Formats: sequence, structure tokens, C-alpha cells
Amino acid sequence: MVLLRLAWFAGLVVSAIAATPDQWRSQSIYFMLTDRFARTDGSTTASCDASMRRYCGGTWKGIENKLDYIQGMGFTAIWITPVTAQLPEDTKYGEAYHGYWQQDIYGLNSHYGTADDLKDLASALHKRGMYLMVDVVANHMGYAGSGDSVNYAVFGPFNEKKYFHSYCEVNDYSNQTNVQDCWLGDTTVSLPDLDTDSEDVQSIWYNWVGSLVSNYSSEQSSSPFNDTNTDTTQVDGLRVDTVKHVEKSFWPGYNKAAGVYCIGEVFDGDAHYTCPYQEVMDGLLNYPMYYPLLAAFKSTSGSMSDLYNMINTVKSTCADSTLLGNFVENHDNPRFASYTDDMSLAKNAAAFTIMADGIPIIYAGQEQHYSGGSDPNNREATWLSKYNTNSELYQLIAKANAIRNQAIYKSDKYTTYKNYPIYKDDTTLAMRKGYSGSQTITVLSNLGESGSSYTLSLPDTEFKAGDKLVEIITCTSVTVDSSGKVPVPMAKGQPRILYPSSLIQGASLCA
Ligand SMILES: *[C@@H]1O[C@H](CO)[C@@H](O)[C@H](O)[C@H]1NC(C)=O
Ligand SMILES: *[C@@H]1O[C@H](CO)[C@@H](O)[C@H](O)[C@H]1NC(C)=O
Ligand SMILES: *[C@@H]1O[C@H](CO)[C@@H](O)[C@H](O)[C@H]1NC(C)=O
Repeated sequence: MVLLRLAWFAGLVVSAIAATPDQWRSQSIYFMLTDRFARTDGSTTASCDASMRRYCGGTWKGIENKLDYIQGMGFTAIWITPVTAQLPEDTKYGEAYHGYWQQDIYGLNSHYGTADDLKDLASALHKRGMYLMVDVVANHMGYAGSGDSVNYAVFGPFNEKKYFHSYCEVNDYSNQTNVQDCWLGDTTVSLPDLDTDSEDVQSIWYNWVGSLVSNYSSEQSSSPFNDTNTDTTQVDGLRVDTVKHVEKSFWPGYNKAAGVYCIGEVFDGDAHYTCPYQEVMDGLLNYPMYYPLLAAFKSTSGSMSDLYNMINTVKSTCADSTLLGNFVENHDNPRFASYTDDMSLAKNAAAFTIMADGIPIIYAGQEQHYSGGSDPNNREATWLSKYNTNSELYQLIAKANAIRNQAIYKSDKYTTYKNYPIYKDDTTLAMRKGYSGSQTITVLSNLGESGSSYTLSLPDTEFKAGDKLVEIITCTSVTVDSSGKVPVPMAKGQPRILYPSSLIQGASLCA
């Protein structure tokens, strides 16, 4: 009886309060700046000069209308930029189209639509079994002017100086107190730094984050124990901005009040600096992996050893590598294709992102091989690609997500199995993820498009002589040889992903 009741209770919790860290492990995230992904009018010609740093007209409705495009690549979740009301000015650095200059945390950014539009987006995602992740900023507000001339009355509800650290600019990244207590931004746009040590500020933020998660609900349940309504939690996860600029002690309370998976931005490639933040938050953007991943593939002379070693470093240094978010592009760093236009290299970087440990994150436009450099040029409007579903990277990402989704469907332990780098040479890296018999083998190359065709005889895959596999990028059948090695057909520097033929049925892959 007791056991039965517990099981019944657990079932309700899972359906009513979606999106625990464990549930996020198996997701795959498409990230977009709301202003730049899709417009309500569906235009694919509306001009958007990213260098101008002005609103281009993207909306929540626009996103809702383009979910087929996103789901067509195998994504199961989206991450949208902050929803809060922003500073209204057109500054020397342009407008707050990106959402990181908030002024009223209880107001929504009306450029993106209404509260109903946001609820509709959440609801449309949930109808497809997809998750919504919203970007949140607890470190700062935004002000069009210098830090010593701020009119605090413009902020809601932090409308007095007492809620903020006194003004000084972050100017010494080797001094953690300076990083936490001083202000980001500069004299043109300052980012007033909240005194997150104060109990007032903490209680406002913790209340806010809980209500943000539960508010954007189209059909709010009267009772948390009402099993007929599985749609209670509408925001399923949070991406948390500027985490290293707030003292660690603030975060456990915030993460708990949110009640959903939180993934934090700690913008630092040193695993020994970044990983400890996973002790105060569910997950982190995998910045330690980002740098060696980019370096390995941005040219044909990148280091495979550094990437191989970082896989092991992250596994042994972070609390749980399977809850990190992998990426090779985002809105803060130059696009991959700004370093090289080689399509094979771009495919390898994307394949690693999807097949390694953790939650894949692909940044809108990456699938169209966009090539903008540093911010703001890396924030091109996706609509200008006409949402081409035949682009090479759209197709590659769809395949990689499909095989990952299938591996997760076939083995509920796939996501928690920690990826092993099993092979490297000067231009190749191979890794194995998943338990013996249902593992994926991913083989990456940085030979580039002019790479020769050859057969790599790959050891240590844990497949057995005679096992039949499919290489899913080329849809080639492969049989493990008598010495237990997998003959991998390499060509044109493209990535390869191998999976047992017997497990591939129903995956709409290589029919
Ligand atoms: C670190 O930064 C804080 C805040 O700016 C400052 O008060 C302190 O003197 C700095 N410490 C060192 C060692 O520079
Ligand atoms: C959520 O809704 C409640 C009730 O309408 C409101 O008081 C609160 O401000 C809302 N929270 C957010 C973050 O919008
Ligand atoms: C559960 O919620 C649904 C939808 O809001 C409602 O129609 C139904 O009456 C509720 N059931 C109970 C037992 O409260």
C-alpha cells in the first residue's frame, strides 16, 4: 500500500512538474534570439542588418509558427532569450533587442508579443512534447548611461540604490570580488549590479523566478495533484546568464525556487574554474569544451589531442558531464564559419556537439552555415535563409539528432553513460557512448573537404566480430571484422556515426 501510493505520487510529480535535470539530459536544444528567428508575418525578406544592433521584428508568435522547421532537425527543446521588459532607448550600442538590458522584471518585452503569445508558444511546444527554456538574468539590470548617473526609479521592482552594489567597473578578472561586486557594461550602457548578497534582493529574485516558471501557463491547474492537467509547468528550464558574476551562495536558492533544470553561463574555458559552479546549479554551458572543440575543427591543423584530453578533464572535474550543454556557436562568440568555410569541418563540429556527453545546443543560423563574426555580426536573422531545410548542415544536424534520439529511446541509460574517447591520431578522434550492444560510435576528422577516401580500422568500440552496424551519415552497412575492429569508411573529411543495424528500425533513418 505504501509502495503503491509512493509510485502513484511519483507519477503525478513527473507529469505535473516537468523538466527535472534528468528529463533535460535527453533533450536537444535549438537556441535563438527571439528578435532574430522569425516574425509574426512570416517574412523571409524583411531586412535585418545585424551590425545596426536594432530590433528586427522577431516574435514569440513567429517562433510558434516555425516549430516544424526546428522539430524537423530533431530538436526537442528551444531556448529563447530573456522575456523581461528592457531599457527603451536607442543607445550608441543600439537597442536592447537581445534582452540582456532589463529594467522591469515583471514586465514583458512587448517587441516580442503579449503574455498570451508567450503562453501560446509554451503550449504549442508542449503539444509536440517539446520543452521551453527561457533565458534569465539575475546579476544585473540595464541602464542607458554611466554607472554614476543612474536613475534607479526606472527599475522594477529594484527601484532604489539600496538594491545594488555601489558603482565600480569590472576590470580585474583575476579578482573574484571585483568580478562579483563591480558592474559590467561601461559609461554608454551600464549594467547596474544587484546586491545579490542581500536578503531583500534574494527574496525578490527567488519569488520572481518561481512565478516566471509557473505563470506562462495556458491552462493553470487548480491543484498540483490534478493528474488530468499535465501542462502546469510551462517554462521547463532556465538558461542563467552571467553566473560567475554572482557569488556562488546565491545560486542554490535560486535553482531550488525555479524548481526546474537550470543551466548556467560561466564564461570561462578553465574546467577547474568553471566546473565548481555545477555544485551550485544543475548544469553549465560547456565552455571548457568549447575552446578545444573550436580549435580542433576551425582549421585542418587543429589539435585532436587537446579535444581528446578535454573530454576526460571535463568528465573528471565537473560534477556531471551529462548535464552540461555542448555548443560550438552562440550569440557571444564568432560563428564557426567565420573561421573557415569548409563544410566538412562545420559538420564535424556539429556532430561532436550532438554526440558527446550532455545536452546539444545548436544556435539558430548554424544549420544555414551563417558566418557572422563577433557580436553583433553573429546575430543574423534566420528568416533571411528562407528556412532552407535542404541545407547540408540542416540535414546533418537532423541525422545526428535522429540517431541520438533513437539511442535514447532504445536505452534509458544512454544519456548517463559517459562518453569515452577511444581513438585519436593527428586528424581523427573517435568516441563511444552507451552500453555495449547499444552504443554509438562517432568518428570525427579535421581533414576537411579535400580529405581522401580510406577505411579506418577502429579498435575498442566494444562491438564484436560479425556485428552488423549502419554508418548513418552515408547509410552504409558495415560488419565488424574478425579481430573485432570496425571498418569505418572515411571520405572528404566528413564525420561518421555508427550504430547497430538491429536497433535502427523505426528511426526514419537510412530506410
Ligand atoms: C578586489 O576587488 C575589490 C572590488 O573591486 C577590491 O575592493 C579589492 O581591493 C580587490 N582586491 C585586490 C587584491 O586587488
Ligand atoms: C505571475 O503572476 C502573478 C499573478 O498574476 C503575478 O503577481 C506575478 O507578478 C507574475 N510573475 C511574473 C514573473 O510575471
Ligand atoms: C483537473 O483539471 C481539469 C483541467 O483544468 C479540470 O477540468 C478538472 O475538473 C480538474 N479535476 C479535478 C478533480 O479537480
